[in-house]
Amino acid sequence: MAIMSERFRIVGGAHLKGEVHVPGAKNSVLKLMAATLLAPGTNTITNVPDILDVEIMIELLERLGCTVNRLQGKVEITVPENPEHRADYELVRKIRASINVLGPLTVRVGAADVALPGGDAIGPRPLDIHIKGLEALGAKVHIEHGYIVTEALNGLDGASIELDFPSVGATENIMMAAVLARGTTVIDNAAREPDIVDIGNFLIEMGAKISGLGSTTITIEGVKKLNPATHATLPDRIITGTWAFAAAITQGDITIKGARADHLEIPLEKLTNAGAVVTTIEDGIRVHMENRPKAIDVATLPYPGFPTDLQPMVVAMNAIADGDAIVTENVFQGRFMFVNELGRLGAKITVDGHHAAICGIPQLSGAPVVATDIRAGVGLVLAGLVADGETIVEDAFHIDRGFPNFAEQLQSLGADVKRI
Ligand code: UD1
Repeated sequence: MAIMSERFRIVGGAHLKGEVHVPGAKNSVLKLMAATLLAPGTNTITNVPDILDVEIMIELLERLGCTVNRLQGKVEITVPENPEHRADYELVRKIRASINVLGPLTVRVGAADVALPGGDAIGPRPLDIHIKGLEALGAKVHIEHGYIVTEALNGLDGASIELDFPSVGATENIMMAAVLARGTTVIDNAAREPDIVDIGNFLIEMGAKISGLGSTTITIEGVKKLNPATHATLPDRIITGTWAFAAAITQGDITIKGARADHLEIPLEKLTNAGAVVTTIEDGIRVHMENRPKAIDVATLPYPGFPTDLQPMVVAMNAIADGDAIVTENVFQGRFMFVNELGRLGAKITVDGHHAAICGIPQLSGAPVVATDIRAGVGLVLAGLVADGETIVEDAFHIDRGFPNFAEQLQSLGADVKRI
């Protein structure tokens, strides 16, 4: 397990070359684990990444009465007939995905007390869309002493729900509650992320009736009971995208095995515009960059738009690119906080609201910086790879939360990176 004071020391200059393998997606696996609460008995999830957040989610499920067996690359979760219904603040504050137990517990147990997750380094993350959705299904929801308390003693009833924004978390919570509700639920303006499709497919394997996954309208016919199932977590598209940007930024050549190019159409197109050669190969993609990247404008948007989780990587690339670029963050307003840290490496970036204007310079200059969240931390490491001299990234435990063995994999591609 990561030590809180861990730092990465990077000496810039390497052109990353070699092969990496993409693990299961953090954003899917944590939700798949929450979904097991819907089916009493033993569920198995495979292709589980070796990250801290999985450990925390296991602890949360154990507190809810599940028995969890962690094996190499998989977890077996045995869910009792009557799970507990309280998720304490102490655990919820560590991992935001714990909010995903809200829908399953409400419909299975008839009640849930889930601590409000609290602040986040990428800006406010309200839960109004989750709450409105559960209320539409007939749950009583209120906030009490820092907890979201839901009540549905007589079960839930299907409803037509139009989301104000295609929130990934809200779509998942509502879908997971609706699979065991009476009658039909229609979610309009639903999120279309591959994670949603993955979780929906797991629910279908458990016996749920769901159609429209991956589109803006998801229709769910409630069933009385779900049965345990086995499911493989889909490959992590954000890690895939990170390696693709790492190749482009360092003028390297990385073969990314297990990658799904179809989950990253816009980012890969942007990389091509920056001058990278992106080739689809058997079981993956190869990204190769000969020259200094060209600056590219990007706006983050819900899927299939450019993912907010890759925004720090594209800002890092533009920082050393040839030309000027504007990067617009449309999903999380606080996500430009790490730009101050990039400034410590000499990047020329001006932030105005949700726009960052970046003036590319040929090389950054190594300095100590602090990772504020997983993706910001990864973006800073990539910037350190193209900085002159030594960059120290403090609070690297954030990176370990979402990116298994990042430092070790960078070493295997030829980078001078050490944990200290
Ligand atoms: C988001 C990303 C997802 C990414 C994940 C992890 C989008 C649309 N979602 O999912 O791709 O994998 O972070 O970093 O890019 N919101 C509300 N009320 C709510 C719920 C959300 O206003 O009840 C707002 C949020 O403040 C945010 C936006 O909707 O501005 C997207 O939130 P949401 O999709 O729910 O976030 P995650 O599920 O965390």
